[in-house]
Amino acid sequence: MRSFRLFFIAAILLAGSLVSAQSKHQFTLGDKDFLLDGKPFQMISGELHYPRIPREAWRDRMKMAKAMGLNTIGTYVFWNLHEPQKGQFDFSGNNDIVEFIKIAREEGLWVILRPSPYVCAEWEFGGYPYWLENEDGLIVRSKNAQYLSEYESYIKELGKILSPYQVNHGGNILMVQIENEYGSYGADKEYLAINQKMFKDAGFDGLLYTCDPAADLVKGHLPGLLPAVNGLDDPAKVKELINQNHDGKGPYYIAEWYPAWFDWWGTKHHTVPADQYTGKLDSVLAAGISINMYMFHGGTTRGFMNGANYNDQAPYEPQISSYDYDAPLDEAGNPTPKFVAFRNVIQKHLSAGTNLPPVPPAKPTISIPKIELENVAGLNDLKPEGKSSESPLTFEDMKLDYGFMLYRTKIEGGKSGILKVKDLRDFAVVMINGKTIGNLDRRTGVDSINLKLPDGNVTLDILVENLGRINFGKYLLQNKKGIVGKVIFQNSEVKNWQNFPLPLKSLGHYAAKPDLVDLNAPVMKKGTFSLSAIGDTYLDMTDWGKGVVWINGHNLGRYWRTGPQQTLYVPREWLHNGKNEILVFEQLKPENKELSALNKPILDQLQ
Ligand code: GLA
Repeated sequence: MRSFRLFFIAAILLAGSLVSAQSKHQFTLGDKDFLLDGKPFQMISGELHYPRIPREAWRDRMKMAKAMGLNTIGTYVFWNLHEPQKGQFDFSGNNDIVEFIKIAREEGLWVILRPSPYVCAEWEFGGYPYWLENEDGLIVRSKNAQYLSEYESYIKELGKILSPYQVNHGGNILMVQIENEYGSYGADKEYLAINQKMFKDAGFDGLLYTCDPAADLVKGHLPGLLPAVNGLDDPAKVKELINQNHDGKGPYYIAEWYPAWFDWWGTKHHTVPADQYTGKLDSVLAAGISINMYMFHGGTTRGFMNGANYNDQAPYEPQISSYDYDAPLDEAGNPTPKFVAFRNVIQKHLSAGTNLPPVPPAKPTISIPKIELENVAGLNDLKPEGKSSESPLTFEDMKLDYGFMLYRTKIEGGKSGILKVKDLRDFAVVMINGKTIGNLDRRTGVDSINLKLPDGNVTLDILVENLGRINFGKYLLQNKKGIVGKVIFQNSEVKNWQNFPLPLKSLGHYAAKPDLVDLNAPVMKKGTFSLSAIGDTYLDMTDWGKGVVWINGHNLGRYWRTGPQQTLYVPREWLHNGKNEILVFEQLKPENKELSALNKPILDQLQ
């Protein structure tokens, strides 16, 4: 054991010295320009997020970044992925941020690192791990002692593995962002200063900066740090704003420049033609301003990792799984007309004789005509041991992070009336004696349903889905999931519940269950299909209801008839020549039996 530990320590020291063996650089603030080893350096950067891209494809996306003319990439770091349970850290597989940064270096790209515990990013709880909600009295994004203590242990862990990759240590991380658009949330400069100190103490000892939308920059910047601006692209205004908040000096950095926008369920797909942006990009680059486009490549928010917006003016808006963003690289990583247009603009600003790498061709796609599926597990097969309670328990009470919770109780039949679920978060299938009778949906405010109970003792089931914790605004602080209030029938509380968590994480090896026929309830289905040629493909869920799909063990994300997303992107990296397995958890249309896959996505169809 001891010799193993010594070996481990030696390996870490060796890794550290390999990093520092690379040449160290100085990245500093000039009056007008960023200075790399004393010479003006303009970052032409694009954002891409390691968890939104299969690890196997990280290098391909970076090559695309180079081919468009980017010299830098930006990424957030996602706390909920790296510390899924308190004190348990994970930097493996698709969470291997160090590898992501190393590949960027090998491909000749600098990195802007955004490891703020809060990231927004259309990500579950803005990147916060769900378990923070179980810490007594903890208040995120504040000086609250419990919060700062969890924050500190996380950022120290990050510092240990990432600080050696800063330029001043021989790596390729140019600078590091603290907090994220804090001015849109609060104005406490002491809190910001604590962020700065925590970062420094964790080893982030290079250049630090903040970023905020123009209207909130005064509140969100910390005197002494560079205030970058988001969403502003008029060069004169960018310079004026940064000058005003930085002792009359630059350098000038647009930390998020939006080539389009993200989507949420039930709302039209967002696109903006490239020609509305090329002139702006041209003038920003001509003015010597550094820029990070958010997103250069959005990719996919797989699993249950999407967030949601909610405020007093708008309904609850959970984001879709595709994070295509109408970005220069599409969801699958192929160049779009926007990519070509931006590349042409960037090329104009490179020094004479510099030629960009050729644009790699789009990847081959395949279609799959018909995959047959059979029922392999009903809710009773999927549910683990439950826990009883008088009133329903929340996800957090059950230490359930994401996915679904099944609530079950018995009530006396022979009655009818309204069943109301108070504070439903977020979507529910209601069943009587195992048969679906309707849905409840937080987005539309439908929290009640008319029940006509048969005689006798009746089983009432409510399957509740967490559609994504809020990732922006004051409702970050009210983010518990499941049935958060009470269930009322005929004006009195329904009590004595069994609570069954269904995280749908480690999926079983299901075999067909012929007795699961004519089911009228959510069900897990399985199919296999054989491929003789591999390529990217898009599962067509247009005729399905609502659910989640896994291929060869990879959770591809959610589908929902409502749209605008109707297909689920399947990366070629996760398909096999020969046999492949697909699992579909369908909540609304258990009678469906077949699927096909298309050679192009449908992201713009509301139904
Ligand atoms: C803000 C946030 C980002 C992202 C964008 C919208 O600017 O900083 O994380 O949420 O909005 O995509």
